[in-house]
Amino acid sequence: MDRLTRVPGLLYGGDWNPEQWPEDVWAEDAELMAEAGVNLVTVGVFSWARLQPDAHSWDFGWLDRLLDLVHRHGIAVDLATATASPPAWLVRASPELLPVTADGVRLEFGSRQHYCPSSTAYRSAAVRLTRKLAERYRHHPALALWHIHNEYGDHVQECFCPASAADFRRWLRERHGSIEELNHSWGTDCWSQRYNSFAQIEPPRTAPGPVNPTQLLDWRRFCSDSLLALHRAEKAVLDELSPGVPVTTNFMSMLKALDYWEWSRHEDFVSDDAYPDPADPRTHVNAALNYDLMRSLKAGRPWLLMEQAPSAVSWRPVNLPKPPGLYRLWSLQALARGADGVLHFQWRASSAGAEKFHSAMLPHRGTASRGWQETVRFGTELRRLGELAGSRLRGQAAVLLDWDSWWALELDDHPSARMRWLDLLRPWYAALYERGVTVDFIPPTAELDGYPLVLAPNLYLLDTATADRLTGYVRTGGRLVCGPFSGIADRHDHIHPGGHPGPLRDLFGLVVDEHWPIPDGAATTVDLDGSALHAEHWSEWIETEGAETVATYASGELAGLPAVTRHRYGAGSAWYLSCHLGADTGPVLDLPLAEAGVDAELPGLPPDVEATRRHAADGTGYLFLLNHGPAERRIPLDRAGARPLHGTDLLTGTAVSTAVTLAPLGAVVLRLPAPEERP
Ligand code: GAL
Ligand code: ZN
Repeated sequence: MDRLTRVPGLLYGGDWNPEQWPEDVWAEDAELMAEAGVNLVTVGVFSWARLQPDAHSWDFGWLDRLLDLVHRHGIAVDLATATASPPAWLVRASPELLPVTADGVRLEFGSRQHYCPSSTAYRSAAVRLTRKLAERYRHHPALALWHIHNEYGDHVQECFCPASAADFRRWLRERHGSIEELNHSWGTDCWSQRYNSFAQIEPPRTAPGPVNPTQLLDWRRFCSDSLLALHRAEKAVLDELSPGVPVTTNFMSMLKALDYWEWSRHEDFVSDDAYPDPADPRTHVNAALNYDLMRSLKAGRPWLLMEQAPSAVSWRPVNLPKPPGLYRLWSLQALARGADGVLHFQWRASSAGAEKFHSAMLPHRGTASRGWQETVRFGTELRRLGELAGSRLRGQAAVLLDWDSWWALELDDHPSARMRWLDLLRPWYAALYERGVTVDFIPPTAELDGYPLVLAPNLYLLDTATADRLTGYVRTGGRLVCGPFSGIADRHDHIHPGGHPGPLRDLFGLVVDEHWPIPDGAATTVDLDGSALHAEHWSEWIETEGAETVATYASGELAGLPAVTRHRYGAGSAWYLSCHLGADTGPVLDLPLAEAGVDAELPGLPPDVEATRRHAADGTGYLFLLNHGPAERRIPLDRAGARPLHGTDLLTGTAVSTAVTLAPLGAVVLRLPAPEERP
């Protein structure tokens, strides 16, 4: 069993900001938490100013009393290191710790998360606070988890101050070794950009025109690394002083700024903050994508939904509440995709400050509110699902995700600015989701052999080692599907010689002669076996060199040329999509899915019903059926030829055999007795 913390069952609770309330409210909070089934609260995320009122004093008395109080109520604590927002006195004493924008504007105190990642004043104060907290609370019986900082990369992802510039130069020296190497990898002979020494280099501040692309790419790498260095400094303190207590920091779903593959190596488990928008009827598809990523970051280990909104958020222009049932359904969706708990922002609704209109587990109206009823009801349901903790699910196919390539793809002065990673990824993911196929995300360095099918919606930046591994995977029987504008550049963002897709040209059996972006608003028709698909934003003039044509351009300048190809290679095959098919991607993906034998988790489901299956170590299966639609759905379980799915709905405790009926926004979680083998 793979538990996140020593707290048994699934985790339930939220951020609690008790410093916003007089102490007599705390007692009521603790009682209501116990009533709601809360077993873990996050404390201290923004408490720095209270814990260290000035440079010379500390005040832990209130936190001592608070931890004792929740412990008496049987509630464990996810204790934050409180370092995300340095207090005013520290900022005034060391104003250079405030971040500076690319335009040279120093951002003022008065919001939150105002720090320069490379500031030694900030870092040493943060590490000192972490040490104080660890020394004081490492043996506290309420402590179940350390919560480092808060959402690295939120608000401030980069800083252009002199300290950051010096740090960047140090990082560049480490990466490139010599200025000659840097000149080569940055291609500084373009536009007379040669440097004679590292001292001449600055961060990519606002400049008259396009900034050197490799400089920008290195800057992105550096920014992710410099925030990670801060995180690691706090983590090292906790590992030293509080060994055995797990440590996490809350990720922000699929965030461009941080290379979460690298980051997750430094987490004891992954936790995520997710805020799907109730105004978007397809938002659950994107939520599924984010949850699949979180599960994948530690190769399938359970993760924690650290924050979600019980109802509305307060930071969109228009903030819709969640209608009855939606909060429950979306919470179950996180569990369905591998989470071992559901926490919220926040426990008690604030009465002052920037987030006073943000929903909470305990709303302003108090225990008479609908929100509170849902909080209590879901807490009860979550206890019924406790045995899920530690069970896992595995995707039927894999999607390659490489932050380096994401960053490089979106640099300026490309054939089209419309080629954005998330815009390319999302339709592929949606097509797989609609087909009931659960995917794992994998880094470019991953083992591929365990998957019958690997999909790469884009691989703009591709080093030859990864290309070799992809080629080896297909040669030995794997199936690879790759999207357009791939195999273009090496890790310095230099074009691979000899035509695109560079080192994958043999594998795909084709060469790209020229890129043909499609103007905004226009579409090119692609013929797939007589049905017309629509390509938008991108197409390519390709010439086959061994590949067979699967679909053909049927309009525009490329009419008659191949649009989608398949190349049988060794024991496998490599599929290439030369255009962006958006909402029409699915019919093309059907072909490699069929060839690889990848089918839905539960075939034949009605639209809007999501199905996933977790497995416990003893083989017990847990089948989630979630109805995201407005219509009632009946799902037969005794399918001709298939193993019957008899089990118990853990939410209601009833035995289910022939069929289940899902109310609108309804869900069942079926326990399928062991040994339950993957269909
Ligand atoms: C998160 C943040 C929380 C809270 C929440 C509101 O990004 O970590 O502190 O602000 O948003 O939705
Ligand atoms: Zn800085």
